[in-house]
Amino acid sequence: MFITTSLTSDLVTLAVTFLVILICYFKWSFQYWKRCGIPYLEPEIPFGNLSNAIRGKEHSGVTFKRIYNEMKHKGWKYGGIYIFTKPQFFPTDLELVRNVVTKDFQHFVDRDIFVNEKQPLQAHLLNLKGDKWRNLRSKLSPTFTSGKMKMMFSVMEECQNDLQKRLDKECLKNEPIDIKEILACFTTNIIGSCAFGLEFKALEDEDSSFRVFGRKMFQSSKWSSFKRVFVTTFPKFSKLLNVSIARKDIADFVINMVDDTVKYREKNNYTRNDFMQLLINLKNNAPSISGDHDGKPLTMDEVASQALVFFAAGFETSSTLMTFALYELSKNQEIQDRLRKEIRQGLARHDNAITYDSVQDIKYLSQVLDESLRLHPPASALNRLCVKDYKIPNEDVVIKKGTSVLISVLGIHHDKDIYPDPDKFEPDRFSDENRKSRHNYAHIPFGEGPRNCIGMRFGLLQAKVGLVSLIKDYRFTVNKKTKEPLVYKSSSIVLAVDGEVWLNAEKVA
Ligand code: HEM
Repeated sequence: MFITTSLTSDLVTLAVTFLVILICYFKWSFQYWKRCGIPYLEPEIPFGNLSNAIRGKEHSGVTFKRIYNEMKHKGWKYGGIYIFTKPQFFPTDLELVRNVVTKDFQHFVDRDIFVNEKQPLQAHLLNLKGDKWRNLRSKLSPTFTSGKMKMMFSVMEECQNDLQKRLDKECLKNEPIDIKEILACFTTNIIGSCAFGLEFKALEDEDSSFRVFGRKMFQSSKWSSFKRVFVTTFPKFSKLLNVSIARKDIADFVINMVDDTVKYREKNNYTRNDFMQLLINLKNNAPSISGDHDGKPLTMDEVASQALVFFAAGFETSSTLMTFALYELSKNQEIQDRLRKEIRQGLARHDNAITYDSVQDIKYLSQVLDESLRLHPPASALNRLCVKDYKIPNEDVVIKKGTSVLISVLGIHHDKDIYPDPDKFEPDRFSDENRKSRHNYAHIPFGEGPRNCIGMRFGLLQAKVGLVSLIKDYRFTVNKKTKEPLVYKSSSIVLAVDGEVWLNAEKVA
């Protein structure tokens, strides 16, 4: 049915009508925070307040940091922003952050993450919601105790030996070292080995199938990052279209690998000190009744899903942490020298052996890592979903069920009111005395509350082992091939360096 006799003018009329309706929809959606009585930053059509990040001009963490600064500058304890048309509640006050992630956690149990249940390997800790998450977290928590970390230390020790061998080899070549790649291989080996229960050997062969798998998993482009934001903003529409952000080839690779490993171990009665074994135990024996869970054993899909998420959540975060730490140490030779001295003294107290106890006994090492995590937190923002209406204490404002919450970790970590001269690398900020003078939530690289990072101990331990192994015998400086100042890769999920980080390494007596 035509409106006029000319097809062209009909099409133009339709297009204009559609555009007017779309603009009205955006304008109406952008009134949400006003209607709630919550202050907000003016959004733009169509990307809301995330224009630069969605257009691939900068990492979303950097945009959120700017939003944090703007709100703080206006004296707001919280405010509203939009991603496309989706409202996001944005707290800047650390007490309110504490309420959201810890004190009033029952209102914010879930993450606002898009999950397409039709895809395999989606039932993992990062994704799950409500009671399904609670059950699984409770079953898995015993897997991450310090006792279990100690047990897995032998795997780290082996990978540490391979790292030293690789660095010796690189040093002989007398050429700059692509440290990001070497550390990615190191964490691929450790997490791969512990999560999937197989020897990865990525340090010996950078094109090994596992390193290729790791690269594929974190391959990102402007398109994939746009798709990630889009599906989270319009989940119903994305489900209707059966959109997936998970890659089928990765899922197939993991399912086959886990299936083979489980069958091999069960057939040969073979056990190993790793996460995979703990997951197999949870599959074969109902977990202990003492935990707050349903007592049901894990299914095979749950085993494979957790192995995948341990690898995904642990490998790039940890290698990024170590890359930034080594880069900052290379820029700050005095700090590097002090760290080397304290590492050597610490090891000397333990017969010069790199052990679970000896690496924990080097306090300055923890300070260096804490400062690196402050300056460059691999997870630059935390995300929660309000699952029950929440009245902000002492205010006449309610956050409605279904509202997404964003906490800018990068913003908090670079707040000049909390950390004077915030861009400076200064590990003494984390001396006991200085730490005590700050709010507990001023440093949250692993999140906080019941839904914090379950792998924190493991991530820190492997970073400590890697740094001890490298700094103890080598001096690092930045090679001129490194593009400075460093820029964060805009399309990456983790806050990672764009391009390579080239360092010179020389052996020190
Ligand atoms: C330096 C290394 C790491 C950093 C900076 C890091 C950071 C984080 C952050 C910020 C979160 C979200 C917390 C929140 O929402 O409050 C998280 C969650 C998580 N991380 Fe890590 N992580 C690291 C290493 C690891 C490792 C090694 C593993 C596993 C072996 C791991 C497994 C997980 C899992 C499963 C979750 C989801 C927890 C849940 O929802 O219950 N992470 N991580």
